[in-house]
Amino acid sequence: MVMKLPLYPDYVIQEVIDKNDIVEVISEHVALKRSGSNYMGLCPFHNEKTPSFSVSPQKGIFHCFGCGEGGTVVNFLMKIENLTFLEALKALAQRANIMLPEANNADSKKEAAIKDKKETYFNINYDAAKFFYKKLSDKDGQVAVAYFKERELTGQCAKYFCLGYSPAKGNELLNHLKEKGYNEEDIFKAGLTSKRDDGTYYDRFRNRIMFPIFNINDKVIGFGARRITEDVNPKYLNTSDTLIYNKSKNLYSLNVARRAKKSEIILVEGYMDVITVVKYGIPNVTATLGTALTPDQAKLLKRYFNEVIICYDSDDAGLEAKKRAILILRDLEIKTSVMTVEGAKDTDEFLKKYGKDRFLSLISRRKSDILYLMDIFGAKYELQKNIEDRIKYIGELLPYLSKIKNDVELDVYIEEIAKRAKTSTQSIYAQLGKTRLIKNGTSNGTQNPTIAPYAGAILTDKLEKTRELLLAVLADNVSIFLKFENELSQDLFENEVHLKLFNMIKEKSKSHHKLEASSVMVDFDENEVGQVTKILSIDAKCDNKSLAVKDYINTILQEQKNKKIEEMLANGDMEGLNALLKNK
Ligand code: GTP
Ligand code: MN
Repeated sequence: MVMKLPLYPDYVIQEVIDKNDIVEVISEHVALKRSGSNYMGLCPFHNEKTPSFSVSPQKGIFHCFGCGEGGTVVNFLMKIENLTFLEALKALAQRANIMLPEANNADSKKEAAIKDKKETYFNINYDAAKFFYKKLSDKDGQVAVAYFKERELTGQCAKYFCLGYSPAKGNELLNHLKEKGYNEEDIFKAGLTSKRDDGTYYDRFRNRIMFPIFNINDKVIGFGARRITEDVNPKYLNTSDTLIYNKSKNLYSLNVARRAKKSEIILVEGYMDVITVVKYGIPNVTATLGTALTPDQAKLLKRYFNEVIICYDSDDAGLEAKKRAILILRDLEIKTSVMTVEGAKDTDEFLKKYGKDRFLSLISRRKSDILYLMDIFGAKYELQKNIEDRIKYIGELLPYLSKIKNDVELDVYIEEIAKRAKTSTQSIYAQLGKTRLIKNGTSNGTQNPTIAPYAGAILTDKLEKTRELLLAVLADNVSIFLKFENELSQDLFENEVHLKLFNMIKEKSKSHHKLEASSVMVDFDENEVGQVTKILSIDAKCDNKSLAVKDYINTILQEQKNKKIEEMLANGDMEGLNALLKNK
């Protein structure tokens, strides 16, 4: 969704932002402490022990250097209370006693209608969950009760997760919901019925164990449904995507897990695994909804946890799933580890066979993702005897190594891999396309001591970090922009958000105006705002800003050149390389 809604003119939105003290509003949710011209606190959007959540009253923005969330006071309210842009704006207008003009244009009506529909679908799913649960007390629900017993699920489990039974007949739920006053089309669109060719409806879920799926705000959004007898297919039937349910954007039992106040989340394969782990008193556990882990789900996990512990089955499919999950989690710079359930086909069976203590000891003996892969691949190859095996071993690890963004971490792993594969660290770096040469060949050598690194920022690669610092200084200093106008070209940037911000600063500087942080936020998409606030929240404290900007520009140019050299080396483009180096 785009932030900017054509409901109100910019100046109205800006007035609401200006008249609400961002520190005051955020303080209602987060304990903030003054730190220089900013305020710091523990981020409410992810789990952390040291504060990386910063609020700038002057700029009217917040940013978390840990999870990357950021924006204006409106964005904050949207996220913390799960509101739409319009709802948050209205709440803040009311708070500041501002009369919003009547927004009865087509868009706001459309938004209200969608919200209405969502509300109806939530209600339908909630009523369906209650209906399935109550069926456990009926005569025809006894097959489900027997099944629970066989799988050692107590009545308490059923109640806690609101498990249930969908009757076999095929119209009981439909009739029940109709009696409650819902119309057939809504019931269908909420995902609970299927449609026959003649346009009539029937229950989608029949004679199955029902697992309601809750979103993080405890609303029932859909169901997973397991067969009771093994001869039925498919094994699991799930709600297909609806206005409120998307299988790749939600996670099972995350509403429970996020309240556990743990910094780690255990990621298991299926619903039954989750329920058993929770039953054994470990609430910080979740599973995907019948698909492989997606980037959206990883982002959701990052919001609430500092580490994902992958706990998939120890079969081949489990290994493939682990490998995919590691790549996705690493991409988002989420600390990832793997625990291995051995001697059982899955987590559910492991706990029943060996109990909680053995499971806890598996957790404490978990391995970091890379170490786990080093061991797994290591067992596959003869690293001591076979030269080709050593090459294959390193080849298998490369895709994962290339995801590591922290140089120190990368060094440590490469050191260890080199030892195991009896090769040099250089050759691994070379394969990785990240030679020592390039790592050490920084800009004009010396680091400028007057430039203080910004607090708590996650170190991305040098080029990105330098670009951010440069934009941060420029956004705050019109005169410096004008001074370096000729050297400040668009070519210094690659990323779309950086370019957009750069051009905004340029526009403003031309008319000798400073960029107003809180007012540019509406020009960025929801998924871009965090990147912008990250830059605008950097306190570029340096004694000599001109010197800093000069150094940043040089660093970027040098790093860009290094990158080019790297590419040419990789492609064997010696001609180009010669030309580039001559052209010094
Ligand atoms: P049990 O077999 O009852 O222990 O369930 P489980 O949750 O352990 O299932 P399993 O390990 O077989 O599969 C893991 C997860 O994959 C399940 O929880 C489902 O989300 C999903 N899944 C398994 N089979 C199917 C299927 O046939 N269709 C769909 N859509 N998802 C499935
Ligand atoms: Mn299972």
